[in-house]
Amino acid sequence: MSASESSQAWTAGPGAALRGSIRVPGDKSVSHRAVMLGALAEGVTRVTGFLEGEDTRATARVFEQLGVRIETPSASERIVHGVGLHGLRGSDAALDCGNAGTGMRLLAGALAGQAFDSVLVGDASLSKRPMRRVTEPLAAMGARIDSEDGGLPPLRIRGGRELRGIEYTLPVASAQVKSALLLAGLYAQGETVVREPHPTRDYTERMLAAFGWPIEFSPGHARLSGGHALRATDVAVPADFSSAAFFLVAASVVPGSELVLEAVGMNPRRTGLLSALRLMGADIVEENPRSEGGEPVADLRVRHARLRGVEVPQALVPDMIDEFPALFVAAAVAQGRTVVSGAAELRVKESDRIATMAAGLRALGVAIEETPDGAIIDGGGLSGGAVESHGDHRIAMSFAVAAQLATGEVRIGDVANVATSFPGFEALAAQAGMRVGAG
Ligand code: S3P
Repeated sequence: MSASESSQAWTAGPGAALRGSIRVPGDKSVSHRAVMLGALAEGVTRVTGFLEGEDTRATARVFEQLGVRIETPSASERIVHGVGLHGLRGSDAALDCGNAGTGMRLLAGALAGQAFDSVLVGDASLSKRPMRRVTEPLAAMGARIDSEDGGLPPLRIRGGRELRGIEYTLPVASAQVKSALLLAGLYAQGETVVREPHPTRDYTERMLAAFGWPIEFSPGHARLSGGHALRATDVAVPADFSSAAFFLVAASVVPGSELVLEAVGMNPRRTGLLSALRLMGADIVEENPRSEGGEPVADLRVRHARLRGVEVPQALVPDMIDEFPALFVAAAVAQGRTVVSGAAELRVKESDRIATMAAGLRALGVAIEETPDGAIIDGGGLSGGAVESHGDHRIAMSFAVAAQLATGEVRIGDVANVATSFPGFEALAAQAGMRVGAG
């Protein structure tokens, strides 16, 4: 189902206890990277557990446009016929990244060292997201990328540039920027070294190593040189922790719930929400911890618990950067005050997530005060009402969770983009006991 075919608004809640056992779709970050590295590798890469979402499909379409054959034996599988580091063919038409910041930023890195020109475009939301954070360091490597005023997309990338490695310390922790520089580094003369103020998800580093590229990395640091080759390898994508997050919160807050989330990716750079919820008093048990495709996974059993407000430790922020909308909902129903700070990046996600969550929660009767880099939320109850997700998938799903505990129905507008990361959310949520549907 494409974003435009899915419903534009939901009516959600109040809901019943969440019960049973469910598996959420594949990890978005890993799925993007599997297609990218598979395309640039020599040989055939089979990707299983692939996220069949709009964002990752856009990335696959871009590589098809650049001459890569990608087969779809089933919705959650892709077979990528790699063309090697220098085998992509330029396209006269713009390359459409849809809603995906990850797609556009990583592609900017991968395409900066090609022999041909490229133009990267995105939807209305992506067209408002800052790209200087990648174009500036890529320019320091010798790339030539023109953007619109304010460093916004479209990005016009000149081909035929000689790239050279740089040492770069990221001003703001960002796995997308780090990954863009590492992908450009594959094409650069000499060493590319990236340092981060706080460690971020390291899927690009791990996957480059799995594809046979010599790379040195540790939390907050990565180093590689150009001039090697990527060798195809199979990639097993774990279930996306960020998609599981909505259910972790829903089952924690709705009385009587006991839900198992199967085979969730537990990369420590992704599980900050788990730590934050536990600080709030959540009852979440990791069962059957194991390794799948080189990534830690576990089944998560979550039972209803009484949550209390906390000051979210700033050290957790990069490890839960996509989970704040869900955390805000937990805070809204917890006992006492929750304070979020050090999270200004939330303002430049698919929407300004501090402002959109504050507006929506206020519409449901929650006392929430915005700060420049976070919010102060006084827990209590939620009433029914109408909220807007501003085309932001994670906001839409977070309000669907909030609605389960509201005293009346919640109407959630502009939900089509849920398909970017979580196709089938409504059906899976209903299977678990939530009430959410078109309307
Ligand atoms: C991602 C990195 C994060 C995250 C995004 C996915 C990635 O963005 O918010 O959803 O796959 O590298 P930033 O790099 O902007 O923090």
